[in-house]
Amino acid sequence: MAKDAQGLPVTGSPESVAALDRAIDDYYGWKGDPVALLQGALDRDPSFTLGASALASLYVLNGFRGDNPAVTQVIGAAEASIGGATSREKRHLEAAKAWASGAIIRATDIWEDILVDHPADALALRFAHDTYFYLGHSLSIRDSVARVLPVWDKQNPNYGYVLGAYAFGLEETGEMRRAEEVGRAAIAQNAEDAWAVHAVAHVLETESRQREGIEFLRASRPSWSKAHALSIHNGWHLALYLIEEGRFDEVLADYDRFVAPRIAGDALLDLVDASAVLWRLELAGANVGDRWVPLAKQWLTHVDDHVLVFNDLHIALAVSRAKDGEGVRRLRRSLDHYEKDAAGDNRDITVDVGRRIVEAALAFAEGEYRRVIELILPVRYKVIRIGGSHAQRDLVTQTLIVAAERSGETNLARALLAERLAVRPTERTKNAYARLCGVTADHSVNAMQ
Ligand SMILES: [Fe+2]
Repeated sequence: MAKDAQGLPVTGSPESVAALDRAIDDYYGWKGDPVALLQGALDRDPSFTLGASALASLYVLNGFRGDNPAVTQVIGAAEASIGGATSREKRHLEAAKAWASGAIIRATDIWEDILVDHPADALALRFAHDTYFYLGHSLSIRDSVARVLPVWDKQNPNYGYVLGAYAFGLEETGEMRRAEEVGRAAIAQNAEDAWAVHAVAHVLETESRQREGIEFLRASRPSWSKAHALSIHNGWHLALYLIEEGRFDEVLADYDRFVAPRIAGDALLDLVDASAVLWRLELAGANVGDRWVPLAKQWLTHVDDHVLVFNDLHIALAVSRAKDGEGVRRLRRSLDHYEKDAAGDNRDITVDVGRRIVEAALAFAEGEYRRVIELILPVRYKVIRIGGSHAQRDLVTQTLIVAAERSGETNLARALLAERLAVRPTERTKNAYARLCGVTADHSVNAMQ
């Protein structure tokens, strides 16, 4: 039986195993087209059952619903060839089926089970990494990689990618020094490791090192922009620094040059980042013109998907700010049906916390600022359950602060800004806090010094 680059046996032809190695390299590197590689190999080699299971998981990862024919077809192909497969391959199929059925946590449990026996299973490691990210399980993002890292051969071509993944987990759990050190070590191994660049970008954002961040991402752009599947997101990180510096024109120029042409490409992470950057620009006081309109139109093709409520939140941002009343009604109706009729982890997260955040975004766009406060304030510390990174979810806190200001809840806005000043002491936060202290009775700017 042929073995993959990590030395694990794989059922199928040597050509299929070579395609798997290339697909894993592309998947970790956010480049190429791992789906096309695996699909091509599967078409030529129906015994390539791990390729079929991996394809199913990649389709769901990319935002396909579990009942999409592309997903059901490859799961069927995996089942048809699973008879002679290894126990590891059988567990990959179970994980793919669990994920496709909406049982995201069950799928991660299966991948972790595989990793206990096969710590060098690159697919299980990365699928778990991505689903923990979708679930907002910060500690698991870190520990899942920590459990396998010592076993990985430092000479393995994917070792740097594993370091990059660990760096992100360290950042999400607040271990900034180690995160930066490990992230920069991964970049030293491979300057085009866009996920490692991303981990360092997170550190610089979390530590409010805006000017360093701008220099870092602009200097490394020729390398990370080759990773087409992550390039818009790393560009979004650059935008975060620039917004804090009040450099809105540069953000809008980058949006028009890099982001707007990608909207029709329909990559969900690109649509998320496009929505988030426009929303944050508006919160900061910029005028984004009519840029919401094509974005909302694209998002509405996913209004009934409900793969992640994190995505639904970003649909809400775009559709409401595009002032598409019918789009807003469609989103609400679809979510009502989903909450009532569906099952699975994302449905439960939607009911418990996600729907409130979606409604808060819609209320904000409608100018119902007190309702925004009522919706977000009681669940602030549960928002992590909608998934994404701390930096992405910071949009919710920023929205709450602006809602408090605009509704005249000045004391609340001041308290929230004081909290923000303690963790993100940017010039913009300092100015906002000072401005509010100037209009509240019992506090002065000196209180923050
Ligand atoms: Fe990020």
